[in-house]
Amino acid sequence: MDDPKVASHDAAPAFGGGQDAFYAKRNIVPLPVIERAAGIHMWDEDGKRYIDVSSGPVVSNIGHGNARVADAMAAQAKTLEYAFARLARNRTNIDYSERLARLAGPGFERVSLTSGGSEAMENALKFLRQYAIATGRASKRIIITCQPSYHGATIATLAMNGEVMMAPFLEGFAAMSEKVPAPFGYRLPENHDAESYARHCADALERKIIELGAEQVLAFVIEPVGGLSTGCVVPPAAYIRGIRDICSRHDVHLVFDEILCGTGRTGKFLAAHHWPDALPDIVTMAKGLGSGYSPLGAMLAPARMVDELAGLTGFEFQYSYNANPVSCAAGLAVLDEVERLDLVACAAERGAQLRAGLEDLKARSPVVGDVRGLGLLLAVELVADRETKAPLPNDLLPADKVRIHGLRNGLMIYSRPTSGGRYGHWFIVAPPLIITEEECRELLGRLEATLNDFVRELGVADA
Ligand SMILES: Cc1ncc(COP(=O)(O)O)c(C=O)c1O
Repeated sequence: MDDPKVASHDAAPAFGGGQDAFYAKRNIVPLPVIERAAGIHMWDEDGKRYIDVSSGPVVSNIGHGNARVADAMAAQAKTLEYAFARLARNRTNIDYSERLARLAGPGFERVSLTSGGSEAMENALKFLRQYAIATGRASKRIIITCQPSYHGATIATLAMNGEVMMAPFLEGFAAMSEKVPAPFGYRLPENHDAESYARHCADALERKIIELGAEQVLAFVIEPVGGLSTGCVVPPAAYIRGIRDICSRHDVHLVFDEILCGTGRTGKFLAAHHWPDALPDIVTMAKGLGSGYSPLGAMLAPARMVDELAGLTGFEFQYSYNANPVSCAAGLAVLDEVERLDLVACAAERGAQLRAGLEDLKARSPVVGDVRGLGLLLAVELVADRETKAPLPNDLLPADKVRIHGLRNGLMIYSRPTSGGRYGHWFIVAPPLIITEEECRELLGRLEATLNDFVRELGVADA
């Protein structure tokens, strides 16, 4: 297959360059210049076609080139492109908030909009801190998160992430969250199975709250279904119920970061809907909300808390682009498509098909150790030895190599080492929810060719 165009710092122009001009030179890898996209496909400047295996970083839920969304945005931009939310209300914001809150269901009646996931996460922290102060619990300021985890790239959210490689950058620069172990289920400590390890992880949360003093702890923030940080870990139901009970017992807010796993991706509109008896207090969303058409994020909170706070101090922090009418129009049109095309059901159906195909691939490929996830949010973990589950050496850069072989085979795959590969190496399979049965088969065929190329490069005997 043809090699995609190779981005090179040597070729950087005197002025400008792409976003990649900022990336580390040692990480120079083939980055195709994408010219257009439609459905689950993208085409580069040379006309080479790629399947968008991971919807970018799990963003493009409704697929590319959707004319209904583009038309709705254009119509809004021509009518009212902007109205500052501190000075005026706009109808699209009111309509969108109602629509989103209705889909999220009871407990998530109020919607605070942002330009993306990191801002939504920051809003959740600020809202809870403001609520704690206004309700006479001002000592509550500590956030607990999982190790590993990912919650964003602003300074505050970087400090929440369970990403060990960032420690020197953040030390003395940001208020670090306290960490508890993520409920991994594949490579487990001795004498544990997935259920007992998840119990151990929930116990670790309670021990941490007690050690810090519950009166100091504001919130426990978790990705209910993992993204890139854990390779789509799905905790056992007992874990979710366990952390809900622990948080309630200690007056600690439970926050679900559904920035990546929300908006129908897992086969329910919210991942939280998989565990209806253990709903969180706050949900953050982004990515699939705008589906690539507009930057859009949201913090969903109960009317009970928002209305109480509004009667006390209010929650007045504002970004200039909050509730931007064009973004809200995009968000509304995306939700129209989610419902018109029944994409939540598609996530469950096509997710089952892809998962079965990936399990078959696992049976054939010497480097596939685990396939996990929920709905159309799946991860493939790469290993050196399937029996021992030994990870591939970090210096092989396995996830990056698979990404590059993927490009050669016409696949755009989201993968990057997390925590320097300390927990293993994986890549994400999360195509747009509009993917058809036939397209799933093509994706699986190209992925098998990609993994075979990777295995040949490694020189593994039974490739
Ligand atoms: C789970 C999770 N939380 C938060 C974020 C941050 O969102 P954004 O990149 O839109 O700021 C991401 C992005 O990858 C994510 O996957």
